[in-house]
Amino acid sequence: MGATRQAVVIDGKAIAALVRAEVASAAAEIAAKHGIAPGLAVVRVGEDPASVIYVRGKIKACAEAGIASFERLLPESTTQAQLLAVVNDLNRDARVHGVLVQLPLPRQNSADAIIEALAPEKDVDGFGPRNTYLLSAGRPGLRPCTPWGCLRLLDEAGVKLAGTRALVVGRSNIVGKPMAQLLLERNATVTIAHSRTADLAAEVARADVVIAAVGKAEIIKGSWIKPGAAVIDVGMNRGPDGKLLGDVEFAAAAERAAFITRVPGGVGPMTIAMLLANTIEAARAQLTK
Ligand code: GUN
Repeated sequence: MGATRQAVVIDGKAIAALVRAEVASAAAEIAAKHGIAPGLAVVRVGEDPASVIYVRGKIKACAEAGIASFERLLPESTTQAQLLAVVNDLNRDARVHGVLVQLPLPRQNSADAIIEALAPEKDVDGFGPRNTYLLSAGRPGLRPCTPWGCLRLLDEAGVKLAGTRALVVGRSNIVGKPMAQLLLERNATVTIAHSRTADLAAEVARADVVIAAVGKAEIIKGSWIKPGAAVIDVGMNRGPDGKLLGDVEFAAAAERAAFITRVPGGVGPMTIAMLLANTIEAARAQLTK
């Protein structure tokens, strides 16, 4: 038996800082060239505690990057018509190049209808029908921030994707499905596993690249990981002691993988960084029309 080789830990905080520095320099260039800073509007309805923290983080990140932010904080009781009116107002506002409606929305609001009402060129979450279509067609468009950040992590680590077997665990519209399409676009052979997958261990054992986006603490065991695999953990779960845990059993997985991300400090910091990057992309497209 040779000595165990530990995986290289992909540093999401450092790569997010790199992306944010690129964004800051692009924002300054746009402001100098067009006389207007790139602008992002963030809409929050109600007081969901996680949403309060996320929205605060997004607004702070804008300020640090030289992106103008427009915060729309609406009461829990906001009707669908009122929310649609806010979205339509932001769609028309020339200072605003990106609009993000923080999810989840209160019960009386339909997220689908709100997402469909967003101007496609301002849909920096990439959740709307136009951008979803562009991704599935392999055409340029705004890509959902979390999977887009996972791809950037793999690229920065130098992980080759073409020809590899990639496994996405989880089929959400926000992460799993767009992640699978991004990997397909990069010529990986892609499998999507989910709660009804017959033998998750066997799927993981075959995969050269594993993207874990299930939302169940340490459901993916380290012993399942194929030696030399790249493992990206999107999970953010609270353990029994309140500790933040990923979807992957980190320590055991790191003994088999070649590359792995931690929770926290992996994918988490990338989501906001890629949102800022998408806002730059949206601003450039709108200002050079
Ligand atoms: N809630 C949790 N994740 C997200 C996200 O990526 N975008 C939005 N708008 N809401 C979220």
